[in-house]
Amino acid sequence: MQISPSLLSADFANLERELGAIANADWAHVDVMDNHFVPNLTLGLPVVERLVAVSPIPVDCHLMIDDPDRWAPGYAEAGARSVTFHVEAVRDAVGTARAIRSAGARAAFAVKPGTAFAPYADLLREVDMVLVMTVEPGFGGQSFMADQMAKVREVREAVRRAGGEIWVQVDGGVSASTIEQCAEAGADVFVAGSAVYGAESAAGAVEELRALAQQHGEQ
Ligand code: DX5
Ligand code: ZN
Repeated sequence: MQISPSLLSADFANLERELGAIANADWAHVDVMDNHFVPNLTLGLPVVERLVAVSPIPVDCHLMIDDPDRWAPGYAEAGARSVTFHVEAVRDAVGTARAIRSAGARAAFAVKPGTAFAPYADLLREVDMVLVMTVEPGFGGQSFMADQMAKVREVREAVRRAGGEIWVQVDGGVSASTIEQCAEAGADVFVAGSAVYGAESAAGAVEELRALAQQHGEQ
């Protein structure tokens, strides 16, 4: 059970300090948005390079951008240890996943709430993680979509059949009140932005979320 706090809810003027505040987490989730794939703009490669350099924990890059075929491998080369692209944006998913892996990172694909998983089941052999979005991508602080739990179950089942070690990540509205259902459905990597950085103690929120996930999940 791994916790990946999203820097989207952190203080963008103090990212090094904000990374230090979640040093007890498993990953630092960095949301890259290009104002095309989603209607929001965050940060790109030069900032990710610096985050990788100063982060006490590995960086988990979630690319909400058009043309990940072109850009995703660069994030792996920059040192992100996990790079996730969206199936709705990619043209050559297999080639992109392979390029991410050969640059030394874990590769993952993400599906938006309206995107079915089944057409992408064959991609499991090319990736290390599947991200099931539990909000529409673009913004932090949105309400959790419980109707995505059926998809999490479906992905977990497919991963079980495929064998190997493929993680199932959820992202969006994950908090102390919603993480249990995610863990029960089979998620094992939990992204949380506002629930971590909006808490009095970010590190305390990480511990609380991890404990809840462990109580309610299989691993
Ligand atoms: C949304 C991003 C999320 C976001 C989650 O598009 O992918 O990572 O930061 O924020 P919360 O946890 O506040 O929903
Ligand atoms: Zn994200």
